[in-house]
Amino acid sequence: MGTIVFVAREAADLETRVSASPETVKKMKGLGFDVIVEAGAGGLSRIPDGEFEAAGARIGTAADAASADVVLKVRRPAAAEIAGYKSGAVVIAIMDPYGNDEAVAGMASAGLSAFAMELMPRITRAQSMDVLSSQANLAGYQAVIEAAAVYDRAMPMMMTAAGTVPAAKVFVMGAGVAGLQAIATARRLGAAVSATDVRPAAKEQVASLGAKFIAVEDDEFKAAETAGGYAKEMSKDYQAKQAALVAEHIAKQDIVITTALIPGRPAPRLVTREMLKAMKPGAIAVDLAVERGGNIEGAVADQVAEVEGVKVIGYANMPGRVAASASALYAKNLLTFLETMVNKDTKTVVINLDDELIKATMLTYAGDVVHPAFGGAKKGDN
Ligand code: NAI
Repeated sequence: MGTIVFVAREAADLETRVSASPETVKKMKGLGFDVIVEAGAGGLSRIPDGEFEAAGARIGTAADAASADVVLKVRRPAAAEIAGYKSGAVVIAIMDPYGNDEAVAGMASAGLSAFAMELMPRITRAQSMDVLSSQANLAGYQAVIEAAAVYDRAMPMMMTAAGTVPAAKVFVMGAGVAGLQAIATARRLGAAVSATDVRPAAKEQVASLGAKFIAVEDDEFKAAETAGGYAKEMSKDYQAKQAALVAEHIAKQDIVITTALIPGRPAPRLVTREMLKAMKPGAIAVDLAVERGGNIEGAVADQVAEVEGVKVIGYANMPGRVAASASALYAKNLLTFLETMVNKDTKTVVINLDDELIKATMLTYAGDVVHPAFGGAKKGDN
């Protein structure tokens, strides 16, 4: 029997995306794999079972996971799902490992080789496997769409015979992948956009999208970017200066969209209740960091909360609200990673423990937690 790939159906209350598309199924078939898609897996991403079937997959049930050499998922499998996998299976998903030691240990003791896609290094070779980028890009877009939908005014300036509608003022906090796409989207809708970040590299990117850059540009700011291109946690002193600047700016804004994250740390608190209170009547805030503790005080996961008169949108799974688009990109990210593990002659999956992509993403292997960031010891360590 050949290598079997199982595409799981996600729990519908948690996830609308799916880990394969008809296109990636076709490619996996081309690699010589048998692909089983759990019935209904693509339903919320608008991919009917028939399309997977036409691409060469067999439609199966959750029980088929037991025969799989590779399980593709969006979210980390729950204990009940893990119980149905065979020992030695490769499981690839967004594993959300920080603070979830027990769940990671559970995958180790089940004998799974678990890979966390969000730990993919941001190097040229892995660009097409970068789920953080593919999903954050859509999240940034959708954040603006959600804000526009609950905003009681028009976004663009409109000069009409009956008078002028002013352009909405949109402020984007955190100008990484999501923030830059939010800026671009808000600009396309005609808003007057400003943005902030703690990384100096963001300044030029923000300006190139036609938005105004606003930040405390002191010595700490000049050194705030890590070698990996991420932000550092800023000092108390910097945070206070930033808060003062933001407080003044935010009071003039109609919409604020926050996207600030620090890898492995809780999201920085950037917008307080006081700041929300100072915003205009009918103002909107969107917190894309809500799952990691939130940038905005009072944001509630998966709700539009009314905080000090501001509607605070806290949808945790923003890419899941554009699931059809998000799934297509996510599926491609997974396929590209899987391809790096395929031995083309034997048509099997071979884990090369020396490969830097494997080293960076592998959480568990042969019964152990192996990732150093989650308690795993490197081979040869004492
Ligand atoms: P992220 O999701 O970790 O954080 C989002 C943004 O929040 C970042 O720009 C960060 O600087 C900012 N931030 C953190 N703390 C803040 C604070 N206190 N106040 C204001 N802003 C704050 O970052 P993301 O979007 O994943 O991108 C990080 C960097 O990686 C960017 O420079 C991006 O261009 C780069 N990148 C590189 C890739 C590659 O080389 N293949 C692929 C994707 C992104």
